[in-house]
Amino acid sequence: MPKTPAAIDKMRAAGRAAASVLEMIGEHVRPGVSTEELDRICHDYIVGELDCVPACLNYPGGEHQPPFPKSICTSVNHVICHGIPSATKVLRRGDILNIDVTVKKDGFHGDTSKMFFVGKPSVLAQRLVEVAQECLYTGIRAVRPGTRLGDIGHAVAAHARAHRFSVVREYCGHGIGEVFHDEPEVRHYGKPGDGLALQAGVTFTIEPMINAGRRHTRVLPDQWTVVTRDHKPSAQWEHTLLVTEDGVEVLTRRAEETI
Ligand code: MF3
Ligand code: CO
Ligand code: CO
Repeated sequence: MPKTPAAIDKMRAAGRAAASVLEMIGEHVRPGVSTEELDRICHDYIVGELDCVPACLNYPGGEHQPPFPKSICTSVNHVICHGIPSATKVLRRGDILNIDVTVKKDGFHGDTSKMFFVGKPSVLAQRLVEVAQECLYTGIRAVRPGTRLGDIGHAVAAHARAHRFSVVREYCGHGIGEVFHDEPEVRHYGKPGDGLALQAGVTFTIEPMINAGRRHTRVLPDQWTVVTRDHKPSAQWEHTLLVTEDGVEVLTRRAEETI
């Protein structure tokens, strides 16, 4: 359902706040820092500077899942998503890291993630991270009123496939607003012309998870951490988007981005 102008303004504010967390945390990502330390810095910034709620903290899991225990997700190397920040997970030179931030501001959510390099990555990891961002951007460029969800999914997957990478299927983008994970489900694969047609005023995320190897996933015994079955690296980027009359507005755009 399209949002009212007042709700859209609140989505803009929430999106900007979420983006600012990723802009802030970059200088703290370096060898020797633990993902728990990064979580603490983000948590304090979200609560203390932004006056927002970290929406991941205590996020209710499914039936057999405990609530998510931290304020951000930190997913390193072969971790696909939902990595739990930990004092024992210390970043090393050559790691790739996804930080996924969701804030709730004035009742509305902003959800975004980006990849960080710790020192210099391998040639493969660098290519994977770049292609994953291009997958997100390719999906975003397909967005306008009338676009079908299958068009977005197809655009994302075609780009990944062209580079011989695979697309995770178990986790998807989503509608977002007062509800964190709302309808519709936004798949990162699909057939052009299939699925729901977008209307101006709708807000949702695109957040492709792209694997260097095969697409298959496994959840660790902590019930949250999702890893690649083949232990090859994975990369993800996410933005919260608004469908406008003539295209798309990236609500979580960072200053470093030109999209
Ligand atoms: N931010 C994730 C998303 O993009 C969801 C994380 S839920 C959590 O949809 F509980 F793991 F934090
Ligand atoms: Co999301
Ligand atoms: Co997210």
